[in-house]
Amino acid sequence: MKTPIIIVNFKTYNESTGENSLNLAKICDKLSKQTQASIAVAVQTAEINKISESISIPVLSQHIDPITPGRNTGFILPESVKQAGAKATIINHSEHRLDFETLKQSIEKAKQINLKVVACAKDADDAKKIASLNPDFIAVEPPELIGGDISVSTAKPEVIEDSVKAIKSVNPDIKVLCGAGVKNSDDVRKAIELGSQGILVASGIVKAENQEQAIKDLINGLIS
Ligand code: G3P
Repeated sequence: MKTPIIIVNFKTYNESTGENSLNLAKICDKLSKQTQASIAVAVQTAEINKISESISIPVLSQHIDPITPGRNTGFILPESVKQAGAKATIINHSEHRLDFETLKQSIEKAKQINLKVVACAKDADDAKKIASLNPDFIAVEPPELIGGDISVSTAKPEVIEDSVKAIKSVNPDIKVLCGAGVKNSDDVRKAIELGSQGILVASGIVKAENQEQAIKDLINGLIS
């Protein structure tokens, strides 16, 4: 997953479930090819296989559990999302927070099977702690701005700058993303100027009246 990158988190909205998810994934795939912008999609577990077979940009799982094959009814086996076609996983999203030990085990498990990890953090302190676990990416998202209309780069630019410094001081190889409230090209441009290497976005794309137009707008902020 090359940077700068836009990762579209489909979450569990109606507009990104079932047929809608496949349509949205295909739009992302098409625009990535047309513009050369790096785009990836984080889809619901049940849809990883179908979507991976239909597009060529990276597909992420939205979560994994640090389990080994066996008796774990209802949990998400990392090997299973990998075999279904996922190249990476989100972990510790604000909507699916983990305790530190579980997060550590999840990242270790993902590394063992070569599944890239996008670990989420709520602020710079959290990001610094998580950096010690050496995930491939850390996405910083202030929880109170998620799903809102004001982007992290406008409302809390210092969170991005502080997080970049904190994460890079622990491991300069970890790529830093940010998200929450990202809606347009200016939000993306500012995030990149503040040191972010991409964005994690959901409602600004998934809930947009014209999803294709919304993605094009974000791409403009990424490559201009
Ligand atoms: O994972 C992305 C996220 O939590 C941000 O959501 O709707 O504010 O773009 P949203």
